[in-house]
Amino acid sequence: KAPALLKDVNVMITAGPTREAIDPVRYISNHSSGKMGFALAAAAEQLGAKVTVVSGPVNLTTPAGVNKVAVNTAQQMLDATLNQVASCDIFIACAAVADYRVADVAEQKIKKTDNSDEMQLRLVKNPDIVATIAGLANKPFTVGFAAETQDVAHYAQDKMARKNLDMIAANDVSKPEQGFNSEQNALSVFWPTGHQQLDLADKSELAQQLMALIAKQYAAQ
Ligand code: C5P
Repeated sequence: KAPALLKDVNVMITAGPTREAIDPVRYISNHSSGKMGFALAAAAEQLGAKVTVVSGPVNLTTPAGVNKVAVNTAQQMLDATLNQVASCDIFIACAAVADYRVADVAEQKIKKTDNSDEMQLRLVKNPDIVATIAGLANKPFTVGFAAETQDVAHYAQDKMARKNLDMIAANDVSKPEQGFNSEQNALSVFWPTGHQQLDLADKSELAQQLMALIAKQYAAQ
């Protein structure tokens, strides 16, 4: 039996999309399925970790033994992660957080107007959850993701430095067979002193490989 690499280590993972309300019946969101985040949660639990997944709306069964905190908006996701960060050893930001939210959410359903073919929504920037966590004085070992369409290594390493991450997992979303909402993915993983390529595989297999790599770097820090 393999040793439990993450025995009693507290792992928190954000997963899925966020939903930003426009009015009581409409929202802005994205196509994130949450599959990779939930696969990472299962993989971490298998390695002996105590796992919390902070998830936006997804259609996934929570893996056995994993604690799920359900949220909708980016602000709720940030609040939930800040709530638990004091007891977090490893933080993995896998969620596809909406970059912007609607500035003034309408209290009533917005009516279609007859006198104009246009309407405008003013958007404001959402907080960057992973950068906020990685900016804390007592920060956990922090892992981010990067979805890029070109110069993957360059942009990923730049993002790792800018957000103060300990590790970043980048995928090339210009390739149709991997990434968003697909069953498979491939990742280029970077940390300040190294790099490893994880080839195209099912997300559960890839999550196990990535989690093992995270556990190794966490232990080596
Ligand atoms: O800046 P960008 O969105 O490309 O960064 C992606 C990484 O940052 C992912 O790990 C994602 O979960 C995280 N992120 C976040 N909060 C945001 C935006 C991105 O935690 N508001």
